[in-house]
Amino acid sequence: MNPSEARWRELGLWPQWMLRAQAQEQAHEPPVVAATPTVPSPGLLTEAADWPQLRQLVANCQRCALHRERRQAVFGVGDERAGWLFVGEGPGAEEDQRGEPFVGAAGRLLDQMLRALGLKRGEDVYIANVVKCRPPQNRTPTDEECAACLPYLHRQIALIRPKIIVALGKVAAHALLNTDGTLGTLRLGQHRFGDIPLVVTWHPAYLLRNPADKAKAWEDLCRARQLWVSRCTPRDDSGDTTAA
Ligand code: URA
Repeated sequence: MNPSEARWRELGLWPQWMLRAQAQEQAHEPPVVAATPTVPSPGLLTEAADWPQLRQLVANCQRCALHRERRQAVFGVGDERAGWLFVGEGPGAEEDQRGEPFVGAAGRLLDQMLRALGLKRGEDVYIANVVKCRPPQNRTPTDEECAACLPYLHRQIALIRPKIIVALGKVAAHALLNTDGTLGTLRLGQHRFGDIPLVVTWHPAYLLRNPADKAKAWEDLCRARQLWVSRCTPRDDSGDTTAA
Protein backbone atom coordinates (compact mmCIF):
# COMPACT_ATOMS: atom_id res chain seq x y z
CA MET A 1 0.00 0.00 0.00
CA ASN A 2 1.52 3.36 -0.95
CA PRO A 3 1.69 6.11 1.72
CA SER A 4 -1.12 8.24 0.31
CA GLU A 5 -3.45 5.24 0.05
CA ALA A 6 -2.68 4.51 3.72
CA ARG A 7 -3.59 8.11 4.64
CA TRP A 8 -6.86 8.00 2.73
CA ARG A 9 -7.71 4.66 4.28
CA GLU A 10 -6.99 6.14 7.72
CA LEU A 11 -9.51 8.87 7.00
CA GLY A 12 -12.02 6.36 5.66
CA LEU A 13 -11.74 7.98 2.25
CA TRP A 14 -10.47 5.27 -0.02
CA PRO A 15 -10.90 5.12 -3.05
CA GLN A 16 -9.10 8.28 -3.98
CA TRP A 17 -11.50 11.20 -3.67
CA MET A 18 -9.08 13.75 -4.98
CA LEU A 19 -9.78 12.87 -8.60
CA ARG A 20 -13.49 13.21 -7.99
CA ALA A 21 -12.98 16.60 -6.37
CA GLN A 22 -10.91 17.82 -9.30
CA ALA A 23 -13.52 16.68 -11.80
CA GLN A 24 -16.26 18.38 -9.82
CA GLU A 25 -14.31 21.58 -9.55
CA GLN A 26 -13.73 21.73 -13.28
CA ALA A 27 -17.45 21.13 -13.90
CA HIS A 28 -18.60 23.85 -11.50
CA GLU A 29 -16.66 26.95 -10.62
CA PRO A 30 -18.68 29.39 -8.53
CA PRO A 31 -17.75 33.10 -8.59
CA VAL A 32 -15.21 34.32 -6.04
CA VAL A 33 -16.72 36.36 -3.20
CA ALA A 34 -14.17 38.61 -1.52
CA ALA A 35 -14.64 39.56 2.12
CA THR A 36 -13.31 42.94 3.12
CA PRO A 37 -11.58 42.37 6.44
CA THR A 38 -12.98 44.95 8.81
CA VAL A 39 -11.15 45.22 12.11
CA PRO A 40 -13.61 45.75 14.93
CA SER A 41 -12.44 48.34 17.45
CA PRO A 42 -10.62 48.47 19.80
CA GLY A 43 -7.84 47.39 17.49
CA LEU A 44 -5.17 50.05 17.58
CA LEU A 45 -2.60 48.27 19.74
CA THR A 46 -3.44 44.96 18.16
CA GLU A 47 -3.09 46.23 14.61
CA ALA A 48 0.53 47.22 15.18
CA ALA A 49 1.57 44.33 17.44
CA ASP A 50 4.40 41.96 16.61
CA TRP A 51 4.19 38.30 17.70
CA PRO A 52 5.39 38.72 21.31
CA GLN A 53 3.19 41.80 21.81
CA LEU A 54 0.20 40.02 20.34
CA ARG A 55 0.74 37.01 22.60
CA GLN A 56 0.88 39.34 25.58
CA LEU A 57 -2.29 41.17 24.55
CA VAL A 58 -4.17 37.89 24.16
CA ALA A 59 -2.84 36.47 27.44
CA ASN A 60 -4.06 39.55 29.33
CA CYS A 61 -7.24 40.15 27.34
CA GLN A 62 -10.43 41.12 29.14
CA ARG A 63 -12.39 42.36 26.15
CA CYS A 64 -15.31 40.02 26.85
CA ALA A 65 -16.70 37.96 29.70
CA LEU A 66 -15.01 34.76 28.50
CA HIS A 67 -11.81 35.77 30.27
CA ARG A 68 -13.50 35.23 33.66
CA GLU A 69 -13.76 31.47 33.36
CA ARG A 70 -10.71 30.64 31.27
CA ARG A 71 -7.76 28.77 32.69
CA GLN A 72 -5.66 30.42 30.01
CA ALA A 73 -6.15 32.08 26.64
CA VAL A 74 -5.33 29.78 23.73
CA PHE A 75 -3.35 31.89 21.31
CA GLY A 76 -2.70 29.58 18.36
CA VAL A 77 0.08 27.25 17.34
CA GLY A 78 2.39 26.61 14.45
CA ASP A 79 4.72 28.05 11.90
CA GLU A 80 4.49 31.85 12.04
CA ARG A 81 5.22 32.04 8.29
CA ALA A 82 2.93 29.13 7.38
CA GLY A 83 1.40 28.73 3.94
CA TRP A 84 -1.67 27.08 5.49
CA LEU A 85 -3.89 28.61 8.16
CA PHE A 86 -6.68 26.54 9.71
CA VAL A 87 -9.21 28.47 11.78
CA GLY A 88 -11.59 26.86 14.26
CA GLU A 89 -14.20 28.20 16.61
CA GLY A 90 -12.78 28.37 20.10
CA PRO A 91 -10.98 26.27 22.70
CA GLY A 92 -12.71 23.40 24.46
CA ALA A 93 -11.87 21.93 27.86
CA GLU A 94 -8.64 20.18 26.81
CA GLU A 95 -7.43 23.19 24.87
CA ASP A 96 -8.16 25.46 27.85
CA GLN A 97 -6.12 23.13 30.04
CA ARG A 98 -3.17 22.65 27.66
CA GLY A 99 -3.09 26.09 26.04
CA GLU A 100 -3.01 24.71 22.50
CA PRO A 101 -5.82 24.63 19.92
CA PHE A 102 -7.30 21.38 18.66
CA VAL A 103 -5.74 18.90 21.07
CA GLY A 104 -8.94 16.96 21.88
CA ALA A 105 -10.85 14.45 19.75
CA ALA A 106 -11.59 17.02 17.03
CA GLY A 107 -7.91 17.91 17.01
CA ARG A 108 -6.93 14.31 16.42
CA LEU A 109 -9.18 14.25 13.36
CA LEU A 110 -7.71 17.57 12.21
CA ASP A 111 -4.23 16.02 12.51
CA GLN A 112 -5.39 13.10 10.35
CA MET A 113 -6.76 15.54 7.79
CA LEU A 114 -3.43 17.36 7.76
CA ARG A 115 -1.58 14.07 7.28
CA ALA A 116 -3.85 13.18 4.38
CA LEU A 117 -2.83 16.47 2.76
CA GLY A 118 0.83 15.67 3.38
CA LEU A 119 0.94 18.35 6.09
CA LYS A 120 1.91 18.34 9.73
CA ARG A 121 0.94 20.58 12.63
CA GLY A 122 3.63 23.22 12.99
CA GLU A 123 5.30 22.66 9.60
CA ASP A 124 3.98 25.23 7.13
CA VAL A 125 0.73 25.03 9.13
CA TYR A 126 -0.71 27.44 11.67
CA ILE A 127 -3.84 26.63 13.70
CA ALA A 128 -5.90 29.30 15.43
CA ASN A 129 -9.42 29.94 16.65
CA VAL A 130 -11.85 32.83 16.31
CA VAL A 131 -12.18 33.17 20.08
CA LYS A 132 -9.14 32.60 22.25
CA CYS A 133 -10.94 31.75 25.50
CA ARG A 134 -13.09 28.72 26.18
CA PRO A 135 -16.83 29.41 26.17
CA PRO A 136 -18.41 27.81 29.29
CA GLN A 137 -19.82 24.32 28.70
CA ASN A 138 -18.22 24.50 25.24
CA ARG A 139 -21.16 26.50 23.95
CA THR A 140 -20.91 28.35 20.65
CA PRO A 141 -19.34 31.79 21.13
CA THR A 142 -21.76 34.68 20.71
CA ASP A 143 -21.43 37.24 17.91
CA GLU A 144 -20.25 39.79 20.50
CA GLU A 145 -17.54 37.45 21.81
CA CYS A 146 -16.38 36.74 18.24
CA ALA A 147 -16.33 40.45 17.40
CA ALA A 148 -14.33 41.26 20.55
CA CYS A 149 -11.70 38.64 19.73
CA LEU A 150 -11.52 39.03 15.95
CA PRO A 151 -8.83 41.75 15.88
CA TYR A 152 -6.39 39.16 17.27
CA LEU A 153 -7.12 36.71 14.48
CA HIS A 154 -6.89 39.50 11.90
CA ARG A 155 -3.48 40.44 13.24
CA GLN A 156 -2.35 36.79 13.22
CA ILE A 157 -3.37 36.58 9.56
CA ALA A 158 -1.54 39.82 8.74
CA LEU A 159 1.63 38.53 10.41
CA ILE A 160 1.48 35.02 8.92
CA ARG A 161 0.34 36.04 5.43
CA PRO A 162 -0.76 32.49 4.59
CA LYS A 163 -1.31 31.34 1.03
CA ILE A 164 -4.58 29.64 1.94
CA ILE A 165 -7.05 29.87 4.82
CA VAL A 166 -9.33 26.97 5.72
CA ALA A 167 -12.33 28.00 7.82
CA LEU A 168 -13.38 25.02 9.93
CA GLY A 169 -17.11 25.34 10.56
CA LYS A 170 -19.75 28.01 10.54
CA VAL A 171 -18.38 30.24 13.31
CA ALA A 172 -15.01 30.61 11.56
CA ALA A 173 -16.63 31.10 8.14
CA HIS A 174 -19.07 33.73 9.43
CA ALA A 175 -16.41 35.61 11.37
CA LEU A 176 -13.82 35.66 8.58
CA LEU A 177 -16.20 36.36 5.73
CA ASN A 178 -18.38 38.76 7.69
CA THR A 179 -21.44 36.97 6.42
CA ASP A 180 -24.06 34.46 7.46
CA GLY A 181 -25.42 31.53 5.51
CA THR A 182 -25.43 27.82 6.00
CA LEU A 183 -22.20 25.89 5.93
CA GLY A 184 -23.62 23.77 3.12
CA THR A 185 -23.93 26.91 0.97
CA LEU A 186 -20.70 28.59 2.04
CA ARG A 187 -18.52 25.55 1.37
CA LEU A 188 -19.64 25.53 -2.25
CA GLY A 189 -18.62 29.17 -2.81
CA GLN A 190 -15.22 30.60 -3.68
CA HIS A 191 -14.10 33.14 -1.11
CA ARG A 192 -11.23 35.43 -0.30
CA PHE A 193 -10.07 37.08 2.89
CA GLY A 194 -8.45 40.20 1.45
CA ASP A 195 -6.30 38.69 -1.28
CA ILE A 196 -6.00 35.26 0.38
CA PRO A 197 -8.16 32.42 -0.96
CA LEU A 198 -10.39 30.99 1.74
CA VAL A 199 -12.04 27.56 1.69
CA VAL A 200 -14.93 26.73 3.99
CA THR A 201 -15.41 23.20 5.26
CA TRP A 202 -16.98 21.39 8.16
CA HIS A 203 -15.56 21.58 11.64
CA PRO A 204 -13.81 18.32 12.63
CA ALA A 205 -16.15 18.00 15.65
CA TYR A 206 -19.10 17.97 13.23
CA LEU A 207 -17.32 15.33 11.11
CA LEU A 208 -16.88 13.13 14.18
CA ARG A 209 -20.66 13.19 14.61
CA ASN A 210 -21.39 12.97 10.88
CA PRO A 211 -18.67 10.79 9.32
CA ALA A 212 -20.66 10.47 6.08
CA ASP A 213 -19.66 14.07 5.30
CA LYS A 214 -15.93 13.31 5.55
CA ALA A 215 -15.76 12.62 1.82
CA LYS A 216 -17.11 16.08 1.01
CA ALA A 217 -14.74 17.64 3.51
CA TRP A 218 -11.92 15.85 1.72
CA GLU A 219 -13.08 17.43 -1.54
CA ASP A 220 -12.92 20.85 0.16
CA LEU A 221 -9.38 20.16 1.35
CA CYS A 222 -8.31 19.05 -2.12
CA ARG A 223 -9.68 22.32 -3.48
CA ALA A 224 -7.69 24.17 -0.81
CA ARG A 225 -4.58 22.27 -1.85
CA GLN A 226 -5.09 23.24 -5.49
CA LEU A 227 -5.40 26.90 -4.48
CA TRP A 228 -2.29 26.60 -2.31
CA VAL A 229 -0.35 25.00 -5.20
CA SER A 230 -1.48 27.74 -7.57
CA ARG A 231 -0.09 30.35 -5.18
CA CYS A 232 3.21 28.49 -4.77
CA THR A 233 3.90 28.15 -8.47
CA PRO A 234 5.64 31.21 -9.87
CA ARG A 235 3.69 32.47 -12.90
CA ASP A 236 5.38 33.88 -15.93
CA ASP A 237 2.81 36.19 -17.47
CA SER A 238 5.29 38.28 -19.38
CA GLY A 239 4.92 36.34 -22.60
CA ASP A 240 8.60 37.11 -23.15
CA THR A 241 10.27 34.07 -24.64
CA THR A 242 13.64 35.63 -25.35
CA ALA A 243 16.54 34.18 -23.40
CA ALA A 244 18.31 36.56 -21.05
N1 URA B 1 -12.68 23.21 18.47
C1 URA B 1 -12.22 24.38 18.00
O1 URA B 1 -12.88 25.04 17.21
N2 URA B 1 -11.04 24.79 18.39
C2 URA B 1 -10.28 24.09 19.22
O2 URA B 1 -9.20 24.55 19.54
C3 URA B 1 -10.77 22.87 19.69
C4 URA B 1 -11.96 22.44 19.30
